[in-house]
Amino acid sequence: MSGAMSGAVSVVVHDIGELLTNDPDVGILRDAAVVADAGRIVWVGPSASAPAADRRIDAAGRAVIPGFVDSHAHLVFAGDRAAEFSARMAGQPYDGGGIASTVTATRAASDDELRGLLAGRIAELRSQGTTTVEIKSGYGLTVADEARALRLAGEVTEETTFLGAHVVPPGVDRRAYVDLVTGPMLDACAPLARWVDVFCEPGSAHAFDGEESREVLTAGIGKGLMARVHGNQLGQGPGVRLAVELGAASVDHCTHLADADVTALADGETIATLLPAVEFSTRSPYPDARRLLDAGVDIALATDCNPGSSYSSSMPFVIALAVREMGLTPTEAVRAATAGGARALRRDDVGVVRVGARADLAVLDAPSHVHLAYRPGVPIARALDVS
Ligand code: NIG
Ligand code: FE
Repeated sequence: MSGAMSGAVSVVVHDIGELLTNDPDVGILRDAAVVADAGRIVWVGPSASAPAADRRIDAAGRAVIPGFVDSHAHLVFAGDRAAEFSARMAGQPYDGGGIASTVTATRAASDDELRGLLAGRIAELRSQGTTTVEIKSGYGLTVADEARALRLAGEVTEETTFLGAHVVPPGVDRRAYVDLVTGPMLDACAPLARWVDVFCEPGSAHAFDGEESREVLTAGIGKGLMARVHGNQLGQGPGVRLAVELGAASVDHCTHLADADVTALADGETIATLLPAVEFSTRSPYPDARRLLDAGVDIALATDCNPGSSYSSSMPFVIALAVREMGLTPTEAVRAATAGGARALRRDDVGVVRVGARADLAVLDAPSHVHLAYRPGVPIARALDVS
């Protein structure tokens, strides 16, 4: 996702009422300015002493934050599952079984149809303040269809994730499918991806158990990919500890955690990425963010935008949920949605406003980042074009 174009002109964003930098040495600046050149931040400081630039953007007292880093999304798909959502709101549980219908619709779509759908989703994200997004495959589940999803994702983001191990396709032998994912599918997809992921959920008829997940992740790591994991979404299980053991950058969902999971996360390097729009859309209990922060675990917030468990591309909605339902302060939530997402993607050039970082900014039609949670459902955030 190109949040900032490599423009030939320098741009100064001035009269920023509140600048949330996420730079620990700087914190929050008032009456600030940021200068960008060729897509990079070259100056941060008081508005009154900002250097001249080719173009001026008047923030008029608004708040500016690092653009959101949505570190977990499934954006290459066709069709929707509104009927499944309605059934869930009437009491049906979510078990991942509906993924198969998205696989059918996605396989049937042409490259151009998928490309158009993806472009629309990227525009939707940017219009809500997101400037970096990770995109997974996982609705193809054949060698050709997974590779196609990654090729399309790679046209719009550097953060591409091979999720051939999303579910076992209906009618396919489980063992044969794991062999396909770790063999020919990985061979075709590894050159197109930065990450490998698996839906680790033992006890699910559709997803993968601890040993299968280990095979998938180990094979991906062996091909040079870095690991991330869908873990502990539907119940407790080995996902979190496996992610920490294998040095995954992030384990995502973390809805059902044993004490040993929290300890492993606190002792390890793996970020816990929380996806509360999933709990909203599946009527599930929210993950206990306070318990994680109090234990010293680093967290991120992401949308998990997908047509099944969370059809929302809105980081502001996720922030509002995290504050209202999960015990985060507004500042903690915004940090988790920016710097936290960057850490979950092992990036130090996004999620922060400092010299040398990408000029990926979001502006709020509000005087403070607190309004992101305080004004739920109001479209106050948008990515700032500094090209
Ligand atoms: O992160 N948990 C597995 N995968 C997605 C849901 C995908 C779908 O339901 O289509 C998730 O929630
Ligand atoms: Fe997901």
